[in-house]
Amino acid sequence: MDVFEAVDSRISCRWFHDKPVDLNIVKELIVKAQRAASGGNLQSWNVYALANEPLKQFKRIVQERIAKDDPRKSKSEYPIYPEPMWGAYKERREEHGVQLYGSLGIDRDDHEGRLGQYKRNFEFFNAPVALFLTIDRKLGPGQWADLGGYIHALAFLARGYGLDTCPQEAWARLYDTVGEFLKLPPNEMLFCGMAIGYGDRKHKANDFRSPRAELHEFAKFHGFD
Ligand SMILES: Cc1cc2nc3c(=O)[nH]c(=O)nc-3n(C[C@H](O)[C@H](O)[C@H](O)COP(=O)(O)O)c2cc1C
Repeated sequence: MDVFEAVDSRISCRWFHDKPVDLNIVKELIVKAQRAASGGNLQSWNVYALANEPLKQFKRIVQERIAKDDPRKSKSEYPIYPEPMWGAYKERREEHGVQLYGSLGIDRDDHEGRLGQYKRNFEFFNAPVALFLTIDRKLGPGQWADLGGYIHALAFLARGYGLDTCPQEAWARLYDTVGEFLKLPPNEMLFCGMAIGYGDRKHKANDFRSPRAELHEFAKFHGFD
C-alpha cells in the first residue's frame, strides 16, 4: 500500500472483525509513528496500550460505570468542543451525526438508539486493541497539535498493516476512570483513546464516506495562477 492509498483508505472505523491482532505489529506501529514531527522535537505523546485480559477487565469497569451514568453528560477535563458551536463547524458536526446514525438506521428522535451507539465507544467498537493517548498537562496548544500529528501517523501507518483505527475523544469524558485504571501520574492528562483492529468495511457503521469541504472553503492560493 502506498502513502496515497493509506491516507485515502483511512476511516474512523466503528465496527471491527472479531480477529486478533499480532501485538508485535501494534508495538511496531507505536514505534514507527514516532517519526511524526513535533515542534522542537518535544515528542509530546504518551501511549498506553491495552489488549487481552487487561482490556477485558477495564471494559468491565467501564460498563459498570456507564450503566449508571449517561457518559455524554460526564464532563471532560478539557473542552472537547467549544459551546455553542457555530457556522460551518456546527453544520459539519450535525451532518456527521446524520450520516452515522442514518447509516445505522437510528432515527433523530431515537434517544436510546443514539445513546447505545455512543456507548459503543466504550467497548472500543469491539476492537481487540485499545490505546490511550496522554499529554503533560503543562504543555500547550503547539504540543497538542503535535500529539494530533502522532495520532494521524498511527492511523495512516495502521493502514500499511491492513489495520483500521478510530480515534476517540469520547474517552475524555471518562478521564477519571481511565486515569485510575492506568495509574496516570498527576501531570498527565488524557487526550483520547484509539481503537485498533481489522475493520469490517462492509458493516453499515463503516459503510459511508465522510464528506470534506470544498477546496475554496479552507485554502487560499497566492501566486498559483
Ligand atoms: C481527535 C479525534 C477524536 C475523535 N473522537 C471520536 C469519538 O470519540 N467517537 C467516534 O465515533 N469518532 C471519533 N472521531 C472520528 C471523527 O468523527 C471522524 O474523524 C470524522 O467524522 C471524519 O470521518 P473519517 O475519520 O471517517 O474520515 C474522532 C476523530 C479525531 C481526529
